Amino acid sequence: MNLVLATPPAIERAARLLAKGGLVAFPTETVYGLGANACDGRAVARVFAAKGRPRFNPLIVHVPDTETAARFGVLTAAALALARQFWPGALTLVVPRLADTSLSELVSAGLPTVALRVPRHPVAQALLRAANVPVAAPSANRSGHVSSTTAAHVAADLGDKVDMILDGGACPGGIESTIVKLDDGAPVLLRAGAIPREDIERVLGERLTLPAAPARPEAPGGLASHYAPRARLRLNALEAKPGEVLLGFGPDMPADAHGLNLSPAGDLVEAAANLFAYLRALDETGARVIAVMPIPNEGLGEAINDRLARAAAPREAHDDVPQ
Ligand code: TXA
Ligand code: MG
Repeated sequence: MNLVLATPPAIERAARLLAKGGLVAFPTETVYGLGANACDGRAVARVFAAKGRPRFNPLIVHVPDTETAARFGVLTAAALALARQFWPGALTLVVPRLADTSLSELVSAGLPTVALRVPRHPVAQALLRAANVPVAAPSANRSGHVSSTTAAHVAADLGDKVDMILDGGACPGGIESTIVKLDDGAPVLLRAGAIPREDIERVLGERLTLPAAPARPEAPGGLASHYAPRARLRLNALEAKPGEVLLGFGPDMPADAHGLNLSPAGDLVEAAANLFAYLRALDETGARVIAVMPIPNEGLGEAINDRLARAAAPREAHDDVPQ
């Protein structure tokens, strides 16, 4: 059984697992998180596979303190004021990503922002300090299930899909973190959560606005616009026509094709890890069309195809799609 009590030696072992690409479920003061090294695209891809998420939602990146958070995102005066008041704690800040971080693109699902959180729970704190890497962690439940608040829930939901479950007892909160977006616009409440909206507004000295997109009750918290390349996408292509670049998959990509192969071996975890970075790189060639080879619609292929289908949709459909 991979469920272990969160003793100091177990936390050390979990930290080593994380650093080398493993998945570790750990308690926070809100709910259990399913953690992976946020700089390791394959590890992040395995999180989506373990949860059975049919879509790539961006993930929250957990760090031990504000100084570490500032290495990955732009913390404005308003962000620092909230951090001073609520970190460590149940507040997640969505802020612009710093340009030259080592974070995987998949963590942000290709978006220019990153969600940062400094948890207060002593096990989460100890784990983050020992791992010495930022930890991407959604709630540790299968997609569509409620968040797990005990290690036993995690084991029942995710079981052998995680390398280790650190049992730190029941989470004291049980409600997910409040998510606030702070970019150059007005501050936005992306998800109501453990910290009341009024408390945040008091620190900011202004009201939080709600996201522009119509909030869909079946998609709580998932209101990020999705990454859209400038180029048009042509799906199910077997080769690139003149003037196109090819986003390939598997061993059948023509050797002389101008483009990038998501996974020459046909590995969907590797393909997911490369998806956003490769789309961006091909977009930056200036090609008008990115031809995309077929990707099997199984496992992570479902989420990859979901994202490609949205990127291929007519331009108007790119905006404010709830996820
Ligand atoms: O309390 C919590 O926040 C727990 C613990 C484990 O930290 N985590 C959690 O993660 O609830 P998750 O993945 O279940 O929910 C995170 C939400 C998602 O709905 C996602 O869409 C949103 O955060 N999110 C993450 N990054 C974002 C971004 N760059 N822009 C907008 N929304 C983002
Ligand atoms: Mg969740």
